[in-house]
Order: sequence, then C-alpha cells, then structure tokens
Amino acid sequence: MPVDRSTFFQIMSAFPTGVAIVTTLEADGTPRGLTTNAVTSVSADPPILLVCIDRKSRTLPALTESRRFVVNFMRDDHAEICELFASKAEDKFARVAWTPGVAGVPILHEGAIAHAECVTLEELDIGDHVVVTGLVESGSAPRPDDVPIVWFQRGFSSAPVQPQPL
Ligand SMILES: Cc1cc2nc3c(=O)[nH]c(=O)nc-3n(C[C@H](O)[C@H](O)[C@H](O)COP(=O)(O)O)c2cc1C
Repeated sequence: MPVDRSTFFQIMSAFPTGVAIVTTLEADGTPRGLTTNAVTSVSADPPILLVCIDRKSRTLPALTESRRFVVNFMRDDHAEICELFASKAEDKFARVAWTPGVAGVPILHEGAIAHAECVTLEELDIGDHVVVTGLVESGSAPRPDDVPIVWFQRGFSSAPVQPQPL
C-alpha cells in the first residue's frame, strides 16, 4: 500500500530543491507558466532535462501543443513571483518582466538567474503528472554572485552558495 498524499509531501519536503518557472505559449501567442521544483537534468550529450507537470495545470495543454518551453531558474529574492506562478491568477505575465526567447516563449530575464530553452522530446504519463523531457537548444548560465531560491519544508529561502568554477 502506498503512503497517503500528505505523508508523501512530508517525506519529500526533506529534499531541498531550486525553483523554476516553466513558461510556454498557447497557439494564439498567449503566455502560460507555472512554478515547479520537479526539474532535473537527464542527459549531458545530448543535453536533456525533464519537468513534471500536474495534469490539472492550465499550462500543460499549451506546452503539449507547442512542444516548446523555457525553464527559468529563479533568483532568491523572487519568492513573490514564484508564489504568483504557483497560483491560478489570469494575469501572471502582466506582473513580471519578460522577453520572448528564440521561439517566442517567455524568458523571465529579471527574476531568473539562468534559463534553458527547450523543445519537447517525449511526454510520459506517470500517476497524476506528465513527465516532459526537453532538448535544451539554448540558454544562459548564472553569474558567480547569483543566488538561487530554494524550496525546503514548504518554504522559500536563500541558498547558502559558494560557487565553484565548472
Ligand atoms: C515550490 C513549488 C513547486 C511546485 N512544483 C510543481 C511541479 O514541479 N509541477 C507542477 O505541476 N506543479 C508544481 N507546483 C504547483 C503549481 O505551480 C500550481 O499548481 C500552479 O497553480 C499551476 O499553474 P497553472 O494551472 O496556471 O499551470 C509547485 C508549486 C510550488 C509553490
């Protein structure tokens, strides 16, 4: 028997993650996006990452149709924007600075310390989420003094980081 939902969330709250806002476009050009922490790299060569999106997300149909998305890795002082994109607000993109990327998909250039522009490779239905893998076609890396936001025990905090050169 699996543990219940609440126990699962409590267990997973032990694992600190960064926070990324995944953006995409509807067919008519309307931007969509949501806050995520289920993001990880999958392959280095070719460069592939994955995001896990709830079936109930309003962003998911647009992502599935466009097969294009941007993963915006968020800065430590942008908890408010992460909360906004974790909501069902209709005007998310009116309340944040963004620029269109190569495929027109929004890049949150002020709130993100880095971003990855992706084209969808596969979608895999797992439980109540869809795992989306994306080939990273372009992006930007953080500067040494950039600090990512962290999600831990259901709260936002700032990562104590000491960047090392790659
Ligand atoms: C820190 C944090 C991490 C989240 N991670 C995810 C995630 O990885 N996948 C997901 O589908 N929803 C995640 N959510 C919930 C979505 O952001 C939320 O359901 C949002 O309202 C979806 O917006 P949409 O329906 O406009 O797409 C997360 C929320 C928070 C606060």
